[in-house]
Amino acid sequence: MNPSATKQAAARGAATRTYRIAVIPGDGTGPEVIREGCKVLDAVVQRQGVRLEWRRYDVGGERYLKTGETLPESVLKELREADAIYLGAIGHPQVKPGILEQGILLRLRFELDQYINLRPVKLYPGVWTPVKDKGPEEIDFVVVRENTEGLYAGVGGFLRKGTAEEVALQTSVNTRRGIERCIRFAFEYTRKRNKAKKLTLCGKTNVLTYAHDLWQRVFTEVAAEYADIKTDYTHVDACCMWMVKNPEWFDVIVTDNMFGDIITDLGAMIQGGMGIAAGGNLNPNGVSMFEPIGGSAPKYTGQNVINPLAAICAGGMMLEQLGEAKAAQAIEGAVMQVTATKLKSLAAGQMGYSTSEVGDLVVQALGDQK
Ligand code: IPM
Ligand code: MN
Repeated sequence: MNPSATKQAAARGAATRTYRIAVIPGDGTGPEVIREGCKVLDAVVQRQGVRLEWRRYDVGGERYLKTGETLPESVLKELREADAIYLGAIGHPQVKPGILEQGILLRLRFELDQYINLRPVKLYPGVWTPVKDKGPEEIDFVVVRENTEGLYAGVGGFLRKGTAEEVALQTSVNTRRGIERCIRFAFEYTRKRNKAKKLTLCGKTNVLTYAHDLWQRVFTEVAAEYADIKTDYTHVDACCMWMVKNPEWFDVIVTDNMFGDIITDLGAMIQGGMGIAAGGNLNPNGVSMFEPIGGSAPKYTGQNVINPLAAICAGGMMLEQLGEAKAAQAIEGAVMQVTATKLKSLAAGQMGYSTSEVGDLVVQALGDQK
C-alpha cells in the first residue's frame, strides 16, 4: 500500500477510510468495463465503511488523435499523488502500434516504478477451460512478472537503417537490483499466499547465459533466506508445456518481463480467456495500477457485450493492495458465484447477459458474501 495512503487512512480513523483512485478508462471497451468495475467497487466498499474518490483522466487514443499528447506531465504529476490507478485499456485502431503502449502504459509502469506485474491464473467454478480434464483444483497459480527491465527497457537501435545491411539491436537489461527486488517480492508473496509454498523460476538459462545466469544466481541467493519455500526452475518453453499439461504443478512463477508477458497470455487462456484475466502493476512502496489484461477490443466497443469480470477482478486486486482484504475477498467470492451459477460463457456476446447486467449480477452476489 502507498505509505501516504496508510498514514492518511490511519489519521482519518478506521470508520471513514478514503482512497483517491485515478481512473483511466482509456480506449475501446475500456470505459464500459471500468464503469462496471467502479459500480462493483462502490457497492463493496459501502459495506466496509470505506469511500473511494474517483478522479478520471482521459488519456488514450482519442486524446492522442486530438492533441498529439500521450501522457501529459500534468496528468503524470496527479497520478503520482493517487492512492492507486484503475486502468481500462489502451490501444486505438487509428494509432500506429507502439505509440500508445509505449507513451502511456509502459511509461506509467516505468515512471511509477511499478516493478512487479502480478497476474493470477485461476480457473473459477463454472468456467470452461480448453485444458482437458483440469478444473479449478488444478488451475490456480500466480505469475510474478518483472515489469521495468528486460527487453522492455527500450535499449537498442538501428544501424544502416533502410539498407540491405541493416542491423537492429534490442538489448535485454537485467540489473542485480531489479532482479533481486522482483525475486524477493515473489518469495514474500509465495509465503503470504501459503498454498503449496513453491516458487518456480522461469527462464532460459541454456541460451541466455548472461542475463538468466544472473537471474538464477540471485534466485539461489535469495532462496537461502526462505527455508520454508520450495524452489524449482523451468525453461520458458517447457513452462508453456507444463502450464497446459500439468498446471497443478505451479504455485507461484517468477520470470522476466518478456517471458512474463508471453506466459500470462497462455495463462489467461487456460483460466477461461481474456474476459477474466486481471493484473496489477505494483510498486509496493508507491502508486500501483490495476488493469484487465485483455486490451481495448475495438470491434466490441459500445455494444455492451464485453465481459467486465477481468476489470472487476482487477478492482478487487486494487482493494487488496490498498489493504482492504475483506472487500477484495467479497469481490472474488461474488465473481465466483456469478461464474458458477449465471454465465453461459466468458466470451464477449456469449455470456447470456450484457456487460452492465454482469456488473449488476456481481453487485447482487456481493449480498451473499460474508
Ligand atoms: C500486457 C500487454 C503490454 C505488454 C503491451 C500492450 C505493451 O501485452 O500488459 O501484457 O507487453 O506488457
Ligand atoms: Mn501482454
